[in-house]
Amino acid sequence: MDVAALLACTRCGLSSTRQRVVVGTGPERAGLMVVGEAPGRTEDEGGEPFTGRSGRLLTRLIEEEVGLLRDQYFITNVIKCRPPLNRPPRRDELLACRPWLEEQLRTQRPSVVLAVGATAAKALYGVTTSMREAHGRVATNGDAHGVVTYHPAAALRQGRIVEDVMRTDLALVKALLS
Ligand code: URA
Repeated sequence: MDVAALLACTRCGLSSTRQRVVVGTGPERAGLMVVGEAPGRTEDEGGEPFTGRSGRLLTRLIEEEVGLLRDQYFITNVIKCRPPLNRPPRRDELLACRPWLEEQLRTQRPSVVLAVGATAAKALYGVTTSMREAHGRVATNGDAHGVVTYHPAAALRQGRIVEDVMRTDLALVKALLS
């Protein structure tokens, strides 16, 4: 993975509004790779994925249900730069950024890939139905199992019902990893 090239990327317009490119964090060849949508304000400022409010919830749920700490899995987003005002990434931005994610998947070779939220579920697994229908195990391609769950922002908005579903999906991640 050519991190220097990614840090200098200008393949889409987000390069002119971002503060930091949020590459992803975690060890090389971790068994689990978590993929979210795009950096928000906290991530754009700090350069690390999932460090704002929803990130802290996701980190805690993964720790409690999968038993892994942040330095034990790789975590990134389908889009590496923050869209202005956190608007959803546009199609051209998703297409431009896609090769970076593919390269990360190739180098990481995880055994479980967890898509967090609808944007990641669509980008990784072509999921277009609601999260209510799509969550859980979606695919096995090659050696990697695919799991889809809600974005933690949905749990922050809708509360316990969504959080409990996320816990079930994360328990599945744990089972697939073992
Ligand atoms: N939401 C995401 O999808 N990714 C982040 O890194 C932060 C918030």
